[in-house]
Amino acid sequence: MKNKYGFNLPTRIEVEAGLLKNAGLPIRELLVGSKAFIITDPGVIESGITAKVTDSLIANGFTTSVFEQVQANPKDVDCEKGGYEARRFGADLIVAVGGGSVIDSAKAIAMLQTLGGSLSQYEGKGKITGSVTPIIAIPTTAGTGSEVTRSAVITDTRRKFKMTLKDIALAPRLALIDPEATYSLPRKLTASTGMDALVHAVEAYTSLQANPFSDALAIAAIEKIYPALPVTVHNGCDKQARDALMIGSLMAGIAFSHADVGAVHCMAEAIGSIYDTPHGVANSMFLPAVTAFNASHNKKRHARIASACGLDVSNLTTDQAAELLVNKLAELAEEIEIPDFNSLEQADPADFALLAELSTQNGSTPNNCRPISENDYYELFLECYNK
Ligand SMILES: [Fe+2]
Repeated sequence: MKNKYGFNLPTRIEVEAGLLKNAGLPIRELLVGSKAFIITDPGVIESGITAKVTDSLIANGFTTSVFEQVQANPKDVDCEKGGYEARRFGADLIVAVGGGSVIDSAKAIAMLQTLGGSLSQYEGKGKITGSVTPIIAIPTTAGTGSEVTRSAVITDTRRKFKMTLKDIALAPRLALIDPEATYSLPRKLTASTGMDALVHAVEAYTSLQANPFSDALAIAAIEKIYPALPVTVHNGCDKQARDALMIGSLMAGIAFSHADVGAVHCMAEAIGSIYDTPHGVANSMFLPAVTAFNASHNKKRHARIASACGLDVSNLTTDQAAELLVNKLAELAEEIEIPDFNSLEQADPADFALLAELSTQNGSTPNNCRPISENDYYELFLECYNK
């Protein structure tokens, strides 16, 4: 826990079921401009959500242009194309309609439209001078948290490395949170994105950068996400659980944007850049093993997480509660049918040295609650593979 910290949430948040079909109104009230460049992906277009947002923007006086070339683990080349298209269109605002890949791409595209150049120039923290085209985020998954963070993770296709761009200028001006956008989310996507949200909360709460504000949000997020996640996976129509997951994900996003994530994300981003594994699936594969690794170092915080999950820890010691958490996280991943690391076709022990190196290089490694070496990462990849 840091004794010097700040808390700054530059994103205005509006929450309402059904909000996205009237999205144009709050956007019009907040921003002056007439040209909305919409970033989305083919799956979200197919769901009909992009059309609802576009219609509402047009009804509120905006001219729109849609850019849909976003892939999972978003790529620098697509963002550079999007930046060029946004500039050609003369966008006044960038509207992201989609999951984490879409919202992260929108941040990169807004930046490239304004500042030009190639994406790798802006890798790291605080490389952006001035403001960028205003970004509106409309998440369609409950997991990413990107709608309230100031960072974007984009794959550098030349280096096969996930770059993080981090600057307050990348924070969306407005996040429109409509739980209804997730009601028809397919089961597998619900499971993997929901686990991503849970990892955000767990890693924020155990991060060395945690502070009382991020702690409060992380614990509240865990209280919502842990019980709701299996319900949403087994019964996607349960609106109460869908709503809880959406708000939990939002809280977890605010928490980790102030406290950072840890080793689970470092390993997930490493396999995301080499194997193109979807982010939520990758996180889920490593959460139990990393939690076991970390729990021994800070049993008290892990026992508190167990309690926030609603597990009965009343007659348990701190050690036993932390151990129960590790077991329950593994059970949850199994219950919602997250595949194991060794079920990945590409997973190959010959890559583990490189994966460990990439994980070590990740900017979040120093904030993991337990010091973690390249060799520790190697052993964790091996442990998950041999499970
Ligand atoms: Fe994540």
